[in-house]
Amino acid sequence: MSYRVDLTVLSEQKQYCRFGVTLHNLSDQDLLDWKLQFIIDRYILPDSFTNGAIKQVGSFCCVTPDIDVLAANAHYYCEFSINTAPLRYHTDGFKDALIVEQNGAIKHSVVVTPIALASPYRERTELPVVEADRLALIPKPNQITTQNGRYLLSPNSQITLQSTRAEKAATWLQVELESIYQFKTNPIGHSEILFRNNPTLDEGEYNLTVSAQGVRIESGSASGFVHACATLLQLVEVTEQANTLQVPYVEISDTPRFRYRGMMLDCARHFHPVERVKRLINHLAHYKFNHFHWHLTDDEGWRIEIKAFPELTDIGAKRGVGTALEPQFSTLDDVHQGFYSQQEIRDVISYAEERGITVIPEIDIPGHCRAALKSLPELLQDQDDQSHYRSIQHYNDNVLSPALAGTYEFLDKVLKEVAELFPSPWVHIGADEVPDGVWVNSPKCQALMAEHGYHSAKELQGHLLRYAEKSLQKLGKRMVGWEEAQHGNKVSKDTIIYSWLSEEAALNCANQGFDVILQPAQFTYLDMTQDYSPDEPGVDWASTIPLETAYRYEPLIEVPDSDPLRKRILGIQCALWCEIVTHQQRMDYMIFPRLTALAEACWTNKPQREWFDYLSRLKGHLALLDRQNIKYRQPWTNQ
Ligand code: ACM
Repeated sequence: MSYRVDLTVLSEQKQYCRFGVTLHNLSDQDLLDWKLQFIIDRYILPDSFTNGAIKQVGSFCCVTPDIDVLAANAHYYCEFSINTAPLRYHTDGFKDALIVEQNGAIKHSVVVTPIALASPYRERTELPVVEADRLALIPKPNQITTQNGRYLLSPNSQITLQSTRAEKAATWLQVELESIYQFKTNPIGHSEILFRNNPTLDEGEYNLTVSAQGVRIESGSASGFVHACATLLQLVEVTEQANTLQVPYVEISDTPRFRYRGMMLDCARHFHPVERVKRLINHLAHYKFNHFHWHLTDDEGWRIEIKAFPELTDIGAKRGVGTALEPQFSTLDDVHQGFYSQQEIRDVISYAEERGITVIPEIDIPGHCRAALKSLPELLQDQDDQSHYRSIQHYNDNVLSPALAGTYEFLDKVLKEVAELFPSPWVHIGADEVPDGVWVNSPKCQALMAEHGYHSAKELQGHLLRYAEKSLQKLGKRMVGWEEAQHGNKVSKDTIIYSWLSEEAALNCANQGFDVILQPAQFTYLDMTQDYSPDEPGVDWASTIPLETAYRYEPLIEVPDSDPLRKRILGIQCALWCEIVTHQQRMDYMIFPRLTALAEACWTNKPQREWFDYLSRLKGHLALLDRQNIKYRQPWTNQ
């Protein structure tokens, strides 16, 4: 080890903490004309910095020390403060560090020691001991009767379709039976898994009967057949014999509690290859989700091919060494890159459709647009704008201007391609977290405000979003956005609000007449940590979300069943933001098993939901996760 950096908490208050940084030169060479780079998610107060100066762009920090030479075997020390909540986890500390000499001509990697936290170590909270349930169905079906006996699926078992709507579900069932259980159905065997049309059943609803006559699945919708297959895949039990499975006798009549059941994946902060995206979509089908919200653009990366603007991916899909965007979140000395071609996107959409899942694209505007602004500076940057602002992720240059013709050209072309590519009737346009202070010192924005008699930046934002809404309507799409989409009071009630701040905010939007999807960060954000142990990966700005908290998420408790407001709540969505999600194993760890808990909030009626009952089913269900090689967070380490 030649270079090492230690980060230590020196003092800790609720909204003000001080840190010490020691860089050790353990090599036998002096460092000359050097700088220290590191990655940390928190905003460092520039005036609090000692022994040098710091420049921060997002999570990327570069320290110019007040000494030119760091002698061999000597160390450099500096301090800084933040005015946000204390750091609790090792993933809150430096993610990477690098020494650069002579303007980057020479680089030295630096070993980062885990942050020395102020708070005492807290043991992981253990879950209560439960017996594993043999009927380990998640989400729990809304009506289930069990009988004694088991039906044997053998090498002679055949799938029979009496409904064309069941074709895709039946194919999916075969694929999954083979990949999870190495079980193959026989195209010329007996008719033992029968798919039958039942037009009296609502969208998503299904009946599943297993008896001595075999497996009978009934639905009136393609999605209902998929949900039935998801249940069947959880019912089957392996036997000693090869290519033979058994299924307990049951009668299930099941229908979703909420018609919208979604998950959002952020592919901008870290790019997730197509295979990883599909893997997640497949898991979503197993838990009866029906929407995949694809967060495709953000400050740190533009991930969707737009033929009208190849720069968006040529430039905006790369960050790190030698690119237009600084390294962020994970590593300093490489290039993080990736985007989805339109062909790959079509492939993902049809993969999802085969599993009853609609893919909703998100193009996040007008904030969170740094990658686009850096890719198309001539079109999108307002050169006369002298406004000073800092976004929640510490950028001062990430917002589109509502007063530039280029912004509208950009929107027209991007939305047109997106609308053509995605069959989803909805397109998500973000609208979250436009920072205070934007546009105030832009002569063009001020002129636009005067022209329309606007009084606040929020109205300017509304102006732009109203344009996006109308454009999407012309393209045959309904606009959906985060709850800030209604700021400035310009978009119509046709826009659907994804509420992430709190249930109160959601109900407020519903009261105004918007349809709403519930995605409260305090329960549904899977990038939140799962416990207080410092080794838990994740963040905790909204809350820490242990499995029990995720399970106990019960929406609309305060809203009476008879309240018409309920009709405006279309469903529930969970989300994985990916600042810290760099690889498959981390993704699995953050998602599982909490996704199974949230699936139940989406699907299962309140009277059927009970924490201990869920735990028993989860315990019985873990074997199925293992079979799929899902690297879930072990719910029990004590049993
Ligand atoms: C969000 O978490 N900014 C929607």
